[in-house]
Amino acid sequence: MKTIVIANQKGGSGKSTMTVHLAAAAEAARHGPVVISDTDPQGTAADWFNQRKKAGIETPRYSALTLSDLAGRVKALDEAGAAYLFIDTAPSIGAVNADLFALADLILIPLNPTPADLRALVKGLPLVRQSGKPFQFVLSRVRPNLRNNDGTAVALQSLGVVLTARMHERVIYAETFAHGKTALETDPKSTAAHEISALWTEIRKKIESKNS
Ligand SMILES: Nc1ncnc2c1ncn2[C@@H]1O[C@H](COP(=O)(O)OP(=O)(O)OP(=O)(O)O)[C@@H](O)[C@H]1O
Ligand SMILES: [Mg+2]
Repeated sequence: MKTIVIANQKGGSGKSTMTVHLAAAAEAARHGPVVISDTDPQGTAADWFNQRKKAGIETPRYSALTLSDLAGRVKALDEAGAAYLFIDTAPSIGAVNADLFALADLILIPLNPTPADLRALVKGLPLVRQSGKPFQFVLSRVRPNLRNNDGTAVALQSLGVVLTARMHERVIYAETFAHGKTALETDPKSTAAHEISALWTEIRKKIESKNS
């Protein structure tokens, strides 16, 4: 099982939206079984999962993580046959995140392409680096044709790996979330569905390669 921790201490950077969409994309591509966990007390991804269950959709699965026994729970999911575990995290830098990073095969950092988000990132990055784990940046909530977009990507390249695929600002991401759905099942032919599938393909290729 590969564990992907989605983290950025900046609130609203798109962590929860990206977590559930990537998990659904991995399932849709038949790379599952996929499990989502939510370690954020706000419970955004857990709420999404509860709505999804009410809508009768069974995948991805959800598993609560006990913070006092993170390693044990992750091992149990691995032994139960999960292929990928996506962990959504709180907008904070603290001991919990350090513990989660220790378990990660990959730390995924969604970032809005704004100067303020870039400055906030620089403060949180030392904790990521201390973990010694591979990390990748992905531009999120990207609005087309903003000069900030490419400028942010260039600035990020000096800090680490920046994924080519981006997640744009799209109404469908926000609207489907409230109903426990994703763009993938609401409109599988949409640009959003293609975009999120491309993002998952790029992440999977990197995580499954030895040099990730
Ligand atoms: N790509 C996107 N397109 C449109 N809306 C988005 C997108 N990503 C996130 N949003 C919206 O932005 C808000 C914040 O997104 P989200 O909850 O995913 O961020 P977060 O990083 O998990 O926030 P927090 O730090 O509070 O946990 C939500 O209202 C969500 O619907
Ligand atoms: Mg969140």
